[in-house]
Amino acid sequence: QFGARKVYAIEPDEAIQVAREMAAANGFSDRVEFFQDVSTRVDLPEQADVIVSDLRGLLPLFGRHLPSITDARRRFLAPGGRLIPRRDTLWAAVVQAPDLYCRHVDPWDDNGYGLDMQAARRLAVNTYHGGPVTPGHLLVEPKCWATLDYTTVESPDVGAPVSWVMERAGTVHGLILWFDTTLADGVGFSNAPGAPELCYGIAFFPLSQPVRVVAGDTVTVVLRAKLLGGEYIWCWDTRVLDGGDSGRTKAQFEQSSFFEFPISAGRLQKWAADHVPKLNQEGEVDEFILSRIDSSTALGEIARRVLDRFPARFADWRDALGRVTKITDEYGL
Ligand SMILES: C[S@@+](CC[C@H](N)C(=O)[O-])C[C@H]1O[C@@H](n2cnc3c(N)ncnc32)[C@H](O)[C@@H]1O
Repeated sequence: QFGARKVYAIEPDEAIQVAREMAAANGFSDRVEFFQDVSTRVDLPEQADVIVSDLRGLLPLFGRHLPSITDARRRFLAPGGRLIPRRDTLWAAVVQAPDLYCRHVDPWDDNGYGLDMQAARRLAVNTYHGGPVTPGHLLVEPKCWATLDYTTVESPDVGAPVSWVMERAGTVHGLILWFDTTLADGVGFSNAPGAPELCYGIAFFPLSQPVRVVAGDTVTVVLRAKLLGGEYIWCWDTRVLDGGDSGRTKAQFEQSSFFEFPISAGRLQKWAADHVPKLNQEGEVDEFILSRIDSSTALGEIARRVLDRFPARFADWRDALGRVTKITDEYGL
């Protein structure tokens, strides 16, 4: 509608089919070319004047968003081209939010049966949770934690301290983080508490324990997000200093989403570089299927052979066909 000569639309999900149908319904099939894959695996026949993306989750530090943007900028963007969005600004504030704490953490402290559920509490306080957060939760003025300038960003990792001298008394239950975006000069939107609800949101990082503060106390949080594999590990180290003469540490916590996953020691050992793996039965099934994909055998025939080879593993031919389809959908053409 705005006159683009050509649009290259990239999306790995099956949802791309809906976009294809909508392009056709609106008479744009000849101008929109679709690629069902992640952008980092796509080669375009030409560079683009504009790249429009939205690969965020609740926050922009999500999955492989930043590596995808840096790759697209380098390979797809023509000199002088524009990125939309151009910039995201991440804001942090400490909050008094007994309702959020009560929802996410308290059930593991007090379950009414006198049961010790601290093992689950450890997971809950090392995870960030989605809002809802209102302006009334804020104990301080928000501060900018980080700016992601997509025209220059290189590293997917972000880490910085953010600190407040409290101006009033209250109880700190955690830290919140949200982003405002600049799509282009003068155009953007905000996810701040009180702003109209969008598909993104506000992340609430609970403290290990709520901390009573008074005016003059200092709250410092060193918040770090590090991309490992395709997932972010978040760390939030909090220190609350007494504003009085003593300046003593009132509270100190080191928290990390590394501890949000219930991983057994046995599973961790399997990830060690010196671990020597061997195939389990599911692996043997998949290896068998993969080795039968030879550009000439139909799915039904592969399923029949799978059933012959692993008769105890599958209820019937249809069951085996389901497994074969799953594998060929992922790895076949
Ligand atoms: C946040 S959702 C998009 C939400 C959409 N803008 C909306 O308003 O409903 C992100 C989408 O980006 C896709 N995606 C993630 N990384 C991608 C990449 N490198 N290349 C292409 N698509 C990607 C995901 O499959 C997902 O469908």
